[in-house]
Amino acid sequence: MFVNFRRIRKCQFVQLMTTCLVLSVVMVCWESLDNNVVSHIKSYSYRYLVNRFVYINKSLTVPREQARSFSDFRYLLDHSDKCAGKDVLLLLFVKSSPENIERRNAIRSTWGNETYIHNTLGVTVKVVFALGRPQDKVGLQEQLVLEDRLRGDLIQRDFLDSFHNLTLKLIQQFHWMHVRCAHARFLMTADDDIFVHMPNLVGYLREVSGRGAADFWVGRVHRGAPPIRSKDSKYYVPFEMYQWLSYPDYTAGAGYVVSGDVADKIYHATLTLNASLYIDDVFMGICANAVGVSPQEHVFFSGEGKAPYHTCIYDQMMTSHGHVEDIHELWKAATHPQVKQKTSGLIGRLYCTAVKVSLLCKPYYFNTYPCKAAFL
Ligand SMILES: *[C@@H]1O[C@H](CO)[C@@H](O)[C@H](O)[C@H]1NC(C)=O
Ligand SMILES: *[C@@H]1O[C@H](CO)[C@@H](O)[C@H](O)[C@H]1NC(C)=O
Ligand SMILES: *[C@@H]1O[C@H](CO)[C@@H](O)[C@H](O)[C@H]1NC(C)=O
Ligand SMILES: *[C@@H]1O[C@H](CO)[C@@H](O)[C@H](O)[C@H]1NC(C)=O
Repeated sequence: MFVNFRRIRKCQFVQLMTTCLVLSVVMVCWESLDNNVVSHIKSYSYRYLVNRFVYINKSLTVPREQARSFSDFRYLLDHSDKCAGKDVLLLLFVKSSPENIERRNAIRSTWGNETYIHNTLGVTVKVVFALGRPQDKVGLQEQLVLEDRLRGDLIQRDFLDSFHNLTLKLIQQFHWMHVRCAHARFLMTADDDIFVHMPNLVGYLREVSGRGAADFWVGRVHRGAPPIRSKDSKYYVPFEMYQWLSYPDYTAGAGYVVSGDVADKIYHATLTLNASLYIDDVFMGICANAVGVSPQEHVFFSGEGKAPYHTCIYDQMMTSHGHVEDIHELWKAATHPQVKQKTSGLIGRLYCTAVKVSLLCKPYYFNTYPCKAAFL
């Protein structure tokens, strides 16, 4: 009896200690818990239970003269006849920084090679680079002028090219399309460090276009993402700039596609919205929300994620993020005729499902295509 009693006391003591330990860990980690868990709970609740994004539209609407200050920049480099008289399937804007000439050259000679696309895929895709003005580095603007004389594909406006001016670059793309290439069936915006599987993408867009693409916006969708309030983050957004608990749904800025009608609607939204929010893909979500367009998910748009290197992936991939040095090799491997051979037929498909499960369905988090992509 006595022993039992002591045993219980000991148990309680252990319990008490454990509770204390857990509590102190929670308290120490509270800040990151608050930043990550709590803000997500709040933002998901807002997104899925409240879902009143109408207010955002209202509060960010500004007079047209003020909205114009976000788009009123002179063109330093332009190509007014880029799309003229052509049946353009896709206008592809690559967001590039002035100093990234190597990335641009790599894109021009791989997935962004217009001649290759025209000759082998039989469609017109226009690939142009969106740039701002270089930070005052000696001679960089002169180099850009030379590069453009040679390649004829730089669209540059007179605002400082910087991370916090990415929204100005977004607006530049939609405005340029409106004025110069309004008849393109699709508009894509992409980072200069992504890989685009152009044959797969063109095949997909042709199919969508055949169904009569309207209200179409596809990419890796972020739903119920909370604004980041921690000042050390690159994506920090102050309360005054955006006061709600969650952003409207948007697609990761690394690469997404909209149909021509959506591009036109977004253009019109940019004429009346306060574009000081400098996270460009979030701002795109706000514009889309204002004109009643919502994004759809495509599992093979990777967003910030990176595709595993494998034939079975190459057969279906659309975009993959984080490719600079390996872009030539990946382009060769991903467009090799053997890809289709190896992945077709019953055996090929079964083999690829098994491979994709092993590559995409990991027990730990790894930013790539979602597990469900293995079964498509
Ligand atoms: C683009 O492709 C064409 C035809 O395949 C080729 O002749 C040309 O050299 C390529 N351009 C670049 C910049 O690599
Ligand atoms: C954005 O560009 C404008 C116009 O060049 C410039 O005045 C401003 O400082 C830039 N903002 C940032 C954050 O770089
Ligand atoms: C736009 O928003 C910023 C803060 O995000 C604010 O400082 C500015 O006054 C707003 N502009 C207008 C015209 O309301
Ligand atoms: C957004 O606001 C503008 C101007 O206040 C209004 O014309 C438009 O209909 C609104 N859109 C939505 C979806 O509420």
